[in-house]
Amino acid sequence: MKKILLLGDIHANYPALKAIENYIKPDRFDHVINTGDFTVYSTFPNETIQWFRERKKTICIFGNTDRRVLRILSGKKLKKPKKKEKRVMYFWTTENLLPGNIKYLMSLPEKTGFTLGSFRIGVFHGTCDDPDEELFPDAPEARFHKLAKNSACQIHIMGHSHVPYYKVVDGVHFINPGSAGRMFDGDPRASFAILKMSSGKISVEHFRIPYPVKKVVKSLKKNRLPDIYTKMFQIGKKLN
Ligand SMILES: [Fe+2]
Repeated sequence: MKKILLLGDIHANYPALKAIENYIKPDRFDHVINTGDFTVYSTFPNETIQWFRERKKTICIFGNTDRRVLRILSGKKLKKPKKKEKRVMYFWTTENLLPGNIKYLMSLPEKTGFTLGSFRIGVFHGTCDDPDEELFPDAPEARFHKLAKNSACQIHIMGHSHVPYYKVVDGVHFINPGSAGRMFDGDPRASFAILKMSSGKISVEHFRIPYPVKKVVKSLKKNRLPDIYTKMFQIGKKLN
């Protein structure tokens, strides 16, 4: 049997990542997948990136927040987001990221894929068509049919919507582990999933576990970052 830990949308929330590590012991897995958005909205981008750099068997891609961080670092103007409080978080991240971690982010692909047994597994931030597409579980069935048709992968691991779900459409498995560091559904606990594959059979289990939100809040306050984010992490809702 193969076991894969599915993570995504950590958003620099290292206390949440650490809580998942303590709960699940990632070294027992054949692979650890991260669907991107390592950075922005919490204050631990370096610790988060280093956690992946120090591990073997990780399969990672960058997300839209990481892409914007890299754009700023390359000297380009930040057109989006327009909201001041969001921009503050991007610039704080670019000012605090360490060179080795920037290099690591730059080395990551926008999407990737690998074969395990008889399955082709695709890793996408949004979807196989568009890294910025937010594919919610209640999206029209026709969209899932199209994505199933457009890709050679039988398993799609996706992030970006921050909504945990598992759907099978036309024999294609669509899995979103939810956001490890920034959930939007009013439950601030960290979200992740485990994918198990055995003799051509697939099972997916989602988890929600508590983490010390206080650590994130304390650090945001210490760095004088917008109050809206302390509240966001405390209540687990998108406020910006
Ligand atoms: Fe995200």
